[in-house]
Amino acid sequence: MKIAVAGKGGAGKTTVSGTVARAFARAGHPVIAVDADVNPMLGISLGLGMDATESLAAVRQDLDHGDGGHEHVATVEAMLERYGADAPDGVRVVVASRVDRPDSGCGCCGITADRLLGELESTGRTVLGDLEAGIGVLARMGAGSLDVVLVVANPTPKSIEVARRAVETAVARDSRVLIVANRVRDDADLDAIRAVLGEHDLVVIPEDPVIARADAEGVAPIDLDAEAPGVRALVALSERLAAQAA
Ligand SMILES: Nc1ncnc2c1ncn2[C@@H]1O[C@H](COP(=O)(O)OP(=O)(O)O)[C@@H](O)[C@H]1O
Ligand SMILES: [Mg+2]
Repeated sequence: MKIAVAGKGGAGKTTVSGTVARAFARAGHPVIAVDADVNPMLGISLGLGMDATESLAAVRQDLDHGDGGHEHVATVEAMLERYGADAPDGVRVVVASRVDRPDSGCGCCGITADRLLGELESTGRTVLGDLEAGIGVLARMGAGSLDVVLVVANPTPKSIEVARRAVETAVARDSRVLIVANRVRDDADLDAIRAVLGEHDLVVIPEDPVIARADAEGVAPIDLDAEAPGVRALVALSERLAAQAA
């Protein structure tokens, strides 16, 4: 199963991606997490720690900018093996490129998010992509290449508008859409999101100080407090996705 997480910057894509990936892995489903953000921070939400997250980004930069000096690999699978890292619970994480070099003929240099997500073999494992803000990567994905798009929306007009466009883009590519109504404080927040996105399946993630604190401390929310309401809601989301995949 291939899942991508889309939405406005700051909506909670990385939080959702990292926590859902960890919950999947904990439940015994192998997970490949693809960090497709221009500022790759997924490692933090996965519980990889600041140093390992930064070195993953540095490796990506070397692959993109250094023409020699590293061992080229032919496939994205080999890239994952050679240049990915292991996060807790056995999540394998890899960072996608910002540079597109279609002629490199290489599975590591300039491998963009859409190509990486498209080419990764998902048989027997879940591929989960934390996309950059907006709808760029989604728009470049071919029809049918993503099974599910999680569209993260906060209860603000701008966030809801970006989510609406992400939904349109995902639906046009035959992906199933699940709205993640994130940072919901009360009924008014939920109503604001439902008013625009209510015709789609929707899960609610409450505003949760544990999630904010995890970010401030550079740790995974699921490691800080797996029983916090926001974290539990994300674990429940992973269970729902797993049930649908089975
Ligand atoms: N449910 C939530 N409750 C409280 N804070 C949240 C919640 N979801 C996300 N946040 C906070 O919002 C900020 C942005 O989240 P992040 O996942 O980095 O967004 P994105 O990847 O979409 O830019 C972070 O500080 C994060 O801790
Ligand atoms: Mg992010």
